[in-house]
Amino acid sequence: MTQHDAAAAVAPINQAGNVGNTENTVSTPEFAAQGAPIGALVYFSSASENTARFVAGCRFQDEGINVYRVPLKASEPALNVREPYVIMVPTYGGGVIKKAVPIQVKRFLNDPDNRAWIRGVIASGNTNFGEAYCAAGDIISTKCHVPFLYKFELMGTPEDTAAVKNGLVKFFTAK
Ligand SMILES: Cc1cc2nc3c(=O)[nH]c(=O)nc-3n(C[C@H](O)[C@H](O)[C@H](O)COP(=O)(O)O)c2cc1C
Repeated sequence: MTQHDAAAAVAPINQAGNVGNTENTVSTPEFAAQGAPIGALVYFSSASENTARFVAGCRFQDEGINVYRVPLKASEPALNVREPYVIMVPTYGGGVIKKAVPIQVKRFLNDPDNRAWIRGVIASGNTNFGEAYCAAGDIISTKCHVPFLYKFELMGTPEDTAAVKNGLVKFFTAK
């Protein structure tokens, strides 16, 4: 029996008759890795979609990286990730460092079952915010004890795309 089978065997059956608890069911990637996954990227992006555009341009799935998106609205099903991931987060403090991490990302990371799998953080922001530029990365790095791997502005440049794509492959495959 695999680990997955064992989990399914003990999962409750919900009202719709599906096996599994809808609160804790492992989420499906937005973009699933081609072949065996080497790791995952979890990202948040608000209605302005800068980070979503950056992620789409990276095509992480072609490199064997599963891509998951943190939901924007509390009414959407919660994201549950159970594999090693790097989180990519835009900064949203309006210049106030302690408010830098979006509430949706806090909610995701406050679930210990999600938090157990974080391995690194990438942050984005806007240099107009001075000292608070990409501050979400510093906060998550400190609180979750993971490396702050990279920062980029708005939807990033082609150089950022190449650096993040190649950097993540190296990060996940390094022995
Ligand atoms: C209300 C608001 C507050 C922001 N606060 C910060 C900030 O404190 N530091 C920073 O570097 N960027 C800040 N930004 C810039 C965003 O991080 C940047 O626009 C990012 O690309 C947004 O990503 P998204 O479109 O994927 O949500 C802020 C943007 C908005 C709209």
